[in-house]
Amino acid sequence: MKVAVVGANGQLGADLVEIFSSGHDVTGLTHADIEITNIDSVRKVLPSIKPDILINTAAYNKVPDAEINSAEAFQINAAGPLNLAKICTEENIRFIQYSTDYVFDGRKNSPYTEKNLPNPLNVYGNTKLSGEYFSLNYCDRSFVVRVSGIYGKIPSRSKGNNFITSILKAAKEKPEVKVVNDEVLTPTPTKWIAKNTLALAQTEAYGLYHMSCDGAVSWYEFAKTIWDELKIKTPLHPSSVNDFPQNVKRPFYSVLENHNLKSLGIDQMPDWKKALVEFLKENKNYF
Ligand SMILES: NC(=O)c1ccc[n+]([C@@H]2O[C@H](COP(=O)([O-])OP(=O)(O)OC[C@H]3O[C@@H](n4cnc5c(N)ncnc54)[C@H](OP(=O)(O)O)[C@@H]3O)[C@@H](O)[C@H]2O)c1
Repeated sequence: MKVAVVGANGQLGADLVEIFSSGHDVTGLTHADIEITNIDSVRKVLPSIKPDILINTAAYNKVPDAEINSAEAFQINAAGPLNLAKICTEENIRFIQYSTDYVFDGRKNSPYTEKNLPNPLNVYGNTKLSGEYFSLNYCDRSFVVRVSGIYGKIPSRSKGNNFITSILKAAKEKPEVKVVNDEVLTPTPTKWIAKNTLALAQTEAYGLYHMSCDGAVSWYEFAKTIWDELKIKTPLHPSSVNDFPQNVKRPFYSVLENHNLKSLGIDQMPDWKKALVEFLKENKNYF
């Protein structure tokens, strides 16, 4: 398979390049190589590579900032995938676009399947949902993959961190650390998303997929596991979202159920805790 990855030096993109490179011909594209918001750039770059499949990880990920920079967020998260989907159709390229658990409002309070109706509470979620519709409706051979609370060995480029790097920084610099106990989700390592994406890319079962680890956890419980595993001494306390007022609404519950991956018989996602412990062991030197 000839594969092109947009955002190749990003958190998820770097792991996709690594996992797909064993056995496939991969071209990694950074922001210097392609500008997804500019259809002329997309039209120039993709035909010159002629991949069988294009994977887009580029996104405007700064959720609070998107409330203010909504036009820019829409350009990257919605118009970008639209440009890619159009050119993929013209060039007969299959397409994979990533989306988010933040398309849901959290009111269901039990795991969301692909059949549940989205209702994004914020600009980021709305722009990502538009990106989903553009991908699915402008490219017949597209997959949209929703992920949640992702972390990889390269932190998110746009945010400059991920939950693990931020919490470890706080543990070093602050006398005590408070983490919210009322936001429940399923944090998932990018390595496992890359592995499951490879399995999905080998099918022709186009459409919408949830792709997160098994189980559900609050950010506090997740942090507590990191504390226990790394034997961190800084005191850790549970807190509430209301203790950290923000300009943006977020779902209190955004657990995804990988119903469609399971139906295909290709779901290989581990439990969130097993995946976290494995990640901390594999990346010891990195912390
Ligand atoms: N972070 C999370 O917890 C989370 C949760 C749910 C879903 N997701 C989704 O997961 C996906 C991957 O996120 P990530 O953390 O891997 O992101 P990331 O680390 O910020 O990587 C994004 C990459 O895309 C590039 N890029 C940004 N704008 C671009 C543009 N206009 N044209 C071309 N390239 C551009 C960036 O390059 P530069 O940095 O050089 O601009 C960077 O290499 C995204 O779709 C995101 O919405 C993330």
